[in-house]
Order: sequence, then C-alpha cells, then structure tokens
Amino acid sequence: MLGAWGGWQAFRRCASLPRTQRAVRLRVREALGAREPADEVKVQGWVRSVRSQKEVLFLHINDGSSLENLQVVADPSLENRDLTFGSAVEVQGKLVKSPHRMQNVELKAKTIRVVGPCDTWLFPLKTKERHPLEYIRQFPHLRCRSNTLGSLLRIRSEATAAIHSFFQDNGYVHIHTPIITSNDCEGAGELFQIETSNEARESAEKTHFFSVPAFLTVSGQLHLEVMAGAFTHVFTFGPTFRAENSQSRRHLAEFYMVEAELSFTESLQDIMQVMEALFKTTASTVLSKCPRDVELFHKYIAPTQKDRLEQMLKNKFVIISYNEAVEILKQASQTFTFKPEWGCDLQTEHEKYLVKHCGEVPVFVINYPYDLKPFYMRDNEDEPQHTVAAVDLLVPGIGELCGGSLREERLPFLKSRLQRLGLADAYQWYLDLRKFGSVPHGGFGMGFERYLQCILGVDNIKDVIPFPRFSHSCLL
Ligand code: 4AD
Ligand code: MG
Repeated sequence: MLGAWGGWQAFRRCASLPRTQRAVRLRVREALGAREPADEVKVQGWVRSVRSQKEVLFLHINDGSSLENLQVVADPSLENRDLTFGSAVEVQGKLVKSPHRMQNVELKAKTIRVVGPCDTWLFPLKTKERHPLEYIRQFPHLRCRSNTLGSLLRIRSEATAAIHSFFQDNGYVHIHTPIITSNDCEGAGELFQIETSNEARESAEKTHFFSVPAFLTVSGQLHLEVMAGAFTHVFTFGPTFRAENSQSRRHLAEFYMVEAELSFTESLQDIMQVMEALFKTTASTVLSKCPRDVELFHKYIAPTQKDRLEQMLKNKFVIISYNEAVEILKQASQTFTFKPEWGCDLQTEHEKYLVKHCGEVPVFVINYPYDLKPFYMRDNEDEPQHTVAAVDLLVPGIGELCGGSLREERLPFLKSRLQRLGLADAYQWYLDLRKFGSVPHGGFGMGFERYLQCILGVDNIKDVIPFPRFSHSCLL
C-alpha cells in the first residue's frame, strides 16, 4: 500500500517533469496525500458517485488504494451518458487544493474518458447505499467494490504482512509446508481426499497418483516439526482445508492458518508468550497502518468492538486449567445445550462463557484430557486424571482462536501411542525425528479468519474472506 511518502515521491516525479511530458499517473491514495498542487496528472478508477449541477460536475472515484475517494471537479460539458456509478474512468487534469474542509485536494478535470461503462440498472451495488454484509455476500465477484469489503481486504493484506514481519523480526524462518499430503495431523478425519479426474472416473480399480491416498492439508504442523529440528524457530502461513460444517459462522472448508514451531521449549508458558505477543503486536500494527479501514468496522459493523479490542490489547491474557474451566462451567447459573463434564470437549457456548467469566479478555485454557487430544501432544503423566500439555486461546465473541501444545518428544511415549492407534508404520518418519537429536519443542496454530473477526467484530467468518462460498454449489 502507498504511504504518505509514496505520495510525496510521486509529486517529486511530477515537479521535475518538462511541461511537454505526458501526465503522471497517480493512485487515489497518492493524490489524496499530496502536499503540493500539480499540473498534468492522470487518475484511473471506478466512479463511486456522480453529481451534476448547473455550473459544475462532481465525481468521486476510487481505485482500491484507500477507503477515501478522490473528488473530481469538471465542467458539465464533460458529462456523458456512460459516466455513471460503477463505470471505470480515466481522468486527466490538475491536482489543486480543495476549498472544501473535508478534503485536502481535488482533481480539476480536463478530460474524462469512460474506459468501461456500467449498467447501473443491473449492477447489484447501488450508489450511496450501505449494503448489509448478507446482501453483498450474494455477489462474490462484485462485493470487493463495496466500501466494506474494500476495507476488509486492505486490512487482510496489512495483517498478512504484519504477521510475516512479526516472525521474521523475531528470528523465525518461513517454511512453505505442503498443501498435498498423506498425513492427517489432527486425526479428526475432516479430510478432503484428492484424486486426478481419471482416478475419479475409474474408481472401481483405484490406482493413486502418488501410490498412496493424498489429502489437502489440515495443518502444516508435522512438517514444521521437521524444520524446527534444523532451524529452531519456524513458521508457516498458508491455506488449510477441513471438511466440516460450512454453515457455521466460525468454520470454513478452506481457511488460512498461521503456525509456529519452537525447538528447545519445555514450557507451555513459552508458547503462550508467543501467541500473546503475536496477537498484540500484529493487531496494533493493523490499527496503525489502516486506521480508517478499521474505523469503518468499529463504527458501522460492530460498535462495541473498539473498546473490546482495546481491553484485549491492554490487559494480560488470563491462564486457567481445563480442570478449573470445567469447575467454572459447572457452577455457572447459565444452562448450556451441552452439559459441561470433565473429559468432554469445550463447546463454543462454554468457551464464550469462560471468556465472559474472566472479564472479556482472552483466556488460555491449558492441560486438556489425554483422550481428547491428538497423538502428538506431550503426556503430562498426571494419572489418574491424565492430561496433555495442550493450550487453546479463547477470545471474546469468537471462542477458540489458537490451538497448540508441547509435542511428545520422547520416543517410547510417542511410539506406544502411535502403536495403540495403529499408526506406527505410517508415522515412521515422525518417529525418526525422536531418534535423531530430539529436543523438547512445541507450537501452535492460529486461524487467520478468526483473528480478523476478533479484531473487527465481524460475526460471520464468510465476511472476512475474499471469496465467500455461501453454498456448496458456489465455487468461484
Ligand atoms: O486447533 P487446531 O485444529 O490446531 C491445529 O491444527 C494444530 N495442528 C496447530 C498447531 O499446533 N500447529 O487449529 C488451529 C486454529 C483453530 O484454533 C482455529 O482458529 C482455526 O485454526 N480453525 C479454523 N478456522 C476456520 N475454519 C475452520 N474450519 C477451522 N478449523 C480450525
Ligand atoms: Mg483446536
């Protein structure tokens, strides 16, 4: 994205041009950040409003570089039939100081060229209307031209960069973990199996493309563990796939996960520290990099979210054990759809209650029952209860944002657990990691879409992705 500095650079380009040279192309954001007037500039974008008066024609144009539009002022003679809301235009003219209080500069048009007209009757977005998120969700191919999705996608882009910077600045190596894999890291069976179109047709006599069944990844963790055995601190941030209820407001079949893995780590405290720092540092960066975009959400979509987020960023996250969590839930006056019992997974209703109980700040729940969690988690050896060193981070309004654990680095423990599950052969390579220079290690995964929901207060996860899939038949 272009900063104020980018705008200034563009202006230096303009200032040093000979008079005969062609107009300098500026992005809307560059033009809005200009500190000096300039002759001969060119701005391209889509029309957000047209207001024709007797003496003057006003246009607002947007090119996705900022939430704010650039005001174009023109002689009414430049108006034409195709110059409508939604049309693509190229405007050339002079950038001048604006007499209006609300904006610094405006573009006095010499020429306006309609590059691509727009049939406003058929176009589902309407000028000056604040369309509800549910409405624009029906138009996955057009909703990025609305203010709300424009802001969301700029925030998503900045958040992605902030997350990469956080890890890079802290000495982590970025790893591209495979998307096609033969492992089911979480063991929950929520896998999409992949096959070639030929395989699908000849399913009676199955020959796999890779000789073994292959799936879309549910987590890059096991591959990160391989790399943590060489680089100490690693992370990945990529697409993740789970065949689970896509009608939910917090689940997607295709989502992005940020995962980190740390070697020479013996305590869950170390993992929790990274989770908390990741959330607080990157959320603060997003707030400072795109204040106007975030403000749109905090003003019009989720009016209580600004204060809530401030509390999250200001306060230390709370830590409770799974045992304590179950006790709190059992003593709650609220009746839950799922009765809280030791040994049962926490449901979203439980997670939300726990967050409220702890003062609407993020809560780490640690040490879950051994039988609830995947094979790779480290045994706490605390029979008769028997828990593993797992941690989930629960956040206001959402529930689970991150899941992590210490990993079982001890060969005998891991081997016997895999043998009991009948997985020892398939995970020979994973057992190898415990034979050659095994070290205590751990890590976590954070759902990127839930992270965005948590910062912005967006209720439905389908509203924080570029392309919503509102039904199984809608694969854009
Ligand atoms: O808790 P999960 O299943 O943890 C893992 O996959 C670990 N292997 C990660 C690790 O330790 N490296 O998933 C991590 C997070 C969840 O807390 C949630 O935020 C998000 O991923 N998540 C989903 N987000 C959207 N849609 C879904 N279907 C999701 N499933 C998980
Ligand atoms: Mg989880």
